[in-house]
Amino acid sequence: MTKPERSVAIVTGARRGIGAAIAVSLAGSGFDVAITDIADDGADETLSAITAAGGQARFVRSDIADVANHARALDDVLGWRGGIDCLVNNAGISAPRRGDLLELGPQAFDQVLGVNLRGTFFFTQAVAQRMVAASAAAPRSIITISSVNAELASIERGEYSMSKAGLAMLTKLFALRLAANGIAVFEVRPGVIRTSMTQVVAEKYERRIADGLVPMGRWGAPRDVGEAVAGLASGRFAFSTGSVLHVDGGLAVPRL
Ligand code: NAI
Repeated sequence: MTKPERSVAIVTGARRGIGAAIAVSLAGSGFDVAITDIADDGADETLSAITAAGGQARFVRSDIADVANHARALDDVLGWRGGIDCLVNNAGISAPRRGDLLELGPQAFDQVLGVNLRGTFFFTQAVAQRMVAASAAAPRSIITISSVNAELASIERGEYSMSKAGLAMLTKLFALRLAANGIAVFEVRPGVIRTSMTQVVAEKYERRIADGLVPMGRWGAPRDVGEAVAGLASGRFAFSTGSVLHVDGGLAVPRL
């Protein structure tokens, strides 16, 4: 009997952190996974973890902000496995400096928007073009990791908050454009997740979580996001295209 083909996913910015956990959860639920990242530190460990979870793995060095290079990165993945069933937009950077909105400069603005929103939009567009041109044998999806900041304003990280709010609209737009093609498009909004990104402000979040910021009373783990993404990528939520899934222990629930 021939072995059934496994589906193929790309996860951007996945050498470590939330992206790595997403890649491993996808591998555990039937995907071979290509991870992209601007850096390769930690990529080998993530590739091994994907393989240990049952998936084939590939690393593609790629800067999401470098739009001219997106085609090369995608050709690499298509040359490897022939198609793409799932894209997870995870690559992102925080504000280079927390500070007064009145002092936010164009360089920090362009840097954060260039990676988080502009790069992600054009990478999504390039993947979507290829998905639309291909025939589908398996459920297909595009899942974007935004943040609670898509909705909740962090005054000292205005550029980050604006980039994540933009990703909320990106999800709606692609959900509409790709609905007739049977490609489901989702936004995932993590809350406070313990990774390198939050390491620099870990003490502050320890205090705020102890003070009730997160109703479930704990940090999120990268695996919390990974498992949620794998659920969305399974095809079971296909008719829910355009939806937002919070992965934040209740943080974004409005309270009195
Ligand atoms: P992280 O810093 O560990 O991971 C981000 C990854 O993206 C890194 O591997 C980094 O090398 C890569 N990257 C950065 N710039 C890139 C570029 N130009 N091209 C390609 N790859 C690039 O941080 P974390 O926490 O795992 O973040 C992952 C995503 O989750 C980000 O989009 C972040 O905004 C989002 N998020 C994180 C939360 C948290 O509490 N950690 C909360 C909400 C959202």
